[in-house]
Amino acid sequence: MRKQIAAANWKMNLSYQEGEQLLDAILNSGIALSGNRFAVFAVPAPYLAMAKSKMANHPNFYVAAQNMYSKKSGAFTGEISAPMLVSLGIDHVIIGHSERREYFNESNELLAEKVKIALEHNITPIFCCGEALPVREANEQNSFVSTQLQESLFSLTAEELQKVVIAYEPIWAIGTGKTASSEQAQEMHQHIRNEIAAKYGKEIAETISILYGGSVKANNAKEIFGKPDVDGGLVGGASLIADEFNQILSGLK
Ligand code: PGA
Repeated sequence: MRKQIAAANWKMNLSYQEGEQLLDAILNSGIALSGNRFAVFAVPAPYLAMAKSKMANHPNFYVAAQNMYSKKSGAFTGEISAPMLVSLGIDHVIIGHSERREYFNESNELLAEKVKIALEHNITPIFCCGEALPVREANEQNSFVSTQLQESLFSLTAEELQKVVIAYEPIWAIGTGKTASSEQAQEMHQHIRNEIAAKYGKEIAETISILYGGSVKANNAKEIFGKPDVDGGLVGGASLIADEFNQILSGLK
């Protein structure tokens, strides 16, 4: 069975102390994950080491960076490299969140480089894709997402691709309280899996975890995660509330 993952994306929220309290509240709630069920916390960069140390005795709980640069080192003021994450023991990174694409002009080409360098360092990229509202209204979401996959992921070898987690996040559903219906999520996840199958074969496609993101909450997680091609979620707002996120974790298949 594929990995089922609930990934928290804190974005640029919470003080260090608030972050500690939130993690303590979740980890001390008695929730335990085993087998194929995983939690990932994408915390702000200055909190990575703290979050990592808190996960020590919690199997299947991981920490992710929210972003990473495409170069290994050098004169890139303010950026964070893959080797830096490795040196902190961080093994997941979100790549290509729509906010990075929109506000920091990250292109499919740059994201391809970031995915590659993450994999070279044994860091699991959580690669985000998804369309904006006008694209959905024009019913062009499938070809839009296909292009994102082709330009950022499909030069990987099959072995490399199997180490990538994909997150489908329709931009019109992020932070808006407007979730894609579970049918819309399933439809796109199936499309993504079909695209992978067409390029790499059905067997490989069946191994890739595809998360849904966009206003996932405690009250809709179970239904969305229950769809056959949905393997968990990437959660923004609701991941900032311990009870909400715990319930989302319990909604994993
Ligand atoms: P949201 O954010 O859950 O607040 O909609 C999801 C995301 O941007 O990853």
